[in-house]
Amino acid sequence: MIARSCRSPLLLFVFLCAFLYWHFNKAPESLEHNISTTHPQVQPSGTEPVHKKPRIAIVTFITDPKSYLHLSLKNKDHYARRHGYDFIVDYESHTEKGTCYWKFNMMERLIKQGKWDWIWWVDFDTLITNTEIKVADVIEEAMANATNPDAIDWIITHDCNGLNMGSFVLRGHERSLSFIDELWEYSTHKKEDGHDPSEQDAMVELLKQEKAAARTHRVPQWKLNSFPQEIACFDESRQVWEPGQLILHFAGAWAHVQGEDPTGQLMQKYEDDIMWGDWKQFY
Ligand SMILES: *[C@@H]1O[C@H](CO)[C@@H](O)[C@H](O)[C@H]1NC(C)=O
Ligand SMILES: *[C@@H]1O[C@H](CO)[C@@H](O)[C@H](O)[C@H]1NC(C)=O
Repeated sequence: MIARSCRSPLLLFVFLCAFLYWHFNKAPESLEHNISTTHPQVQPSGTEPVHKKPRIAIVTFITDPKSYLHLSLKNKDHYARRHGYDFIVDYESHTEKGTCYWKFNMMERLIKQGKWDWIWWVDFDTLITNTEIKVADVIEEAMANATNPDAIDWIITHDCNGLNMGSFVLRGHERSLSFIDELWEYSTHKKEDGHDPSEQDAMVELLKQEKAAARTHRVPQWKLNSFPQEIACFDESRQVWEPGQLILHFAGAWAHVQGEDPTGQLMQKYEDDIMWGDWKQFY
């Protein structure tokens, strides 16, 4: 009798309710940390903590006309609308250093605004190929993998040459500003060959410091920065871009693809593979 009634749907239902009640009423882990990771906006208003989505900005710049301007912009804007992220683009760069350094100026400016928990930088030569995947989930997963998530400010990827700065996530916290300050410092150190370091070179040098390295977390390239088969320069996971992955980056296409407009050609080739989702849900 008892054994049978334990399997009755009603009891199961009561049990499920009890479990859910317990699950949602236990103290969220993030309250125990000074900087929460997966749910940065825990607000102890009233008695119940409220979990909100992390506030995310997707950020890029483009300072020249390109054949794929509309596609690249539309793609990122569509993605941002779909998930309620902000999409921020600069169209001019004002730095005495190489244009690529402007991404750090942007990061500083945006972090100081204090509006976002995470800022996702993407180079302009990228396509979000699966607009359903929330970058918030990738961040959450990365934090779950990190040994000390609260210490992590920067989520990065590698390609076959090591660090690739084409797509990374930075914590929107003033602590990240000191990280960028250190980068500016490294940007003034000449390379061994006497050349000025690129923004990526500066970051590589900075990450040789243990303290800085402890503040970054690396995720598999295909999670945040997939390359197509034409640009076969993968990290050790050796994953070429496949339909269904979040993002496709045509990094240095000019070195791999022949023609007048290597990046534009690849953009056209892969445009049909973009999983856009239903615009009616967010327009
Ligand atoms: C929170 O910050 C304070 C002061 O910076 C520090 O002493 C404490 O250990 C931190 N707590 C956690 C859980 O990180
Ligand atoms: C987290 O770790 C698992 C297991 O190693 C791995 O499969 C997954 O790709 C990692 N995710 C991220 C975002 O790093």
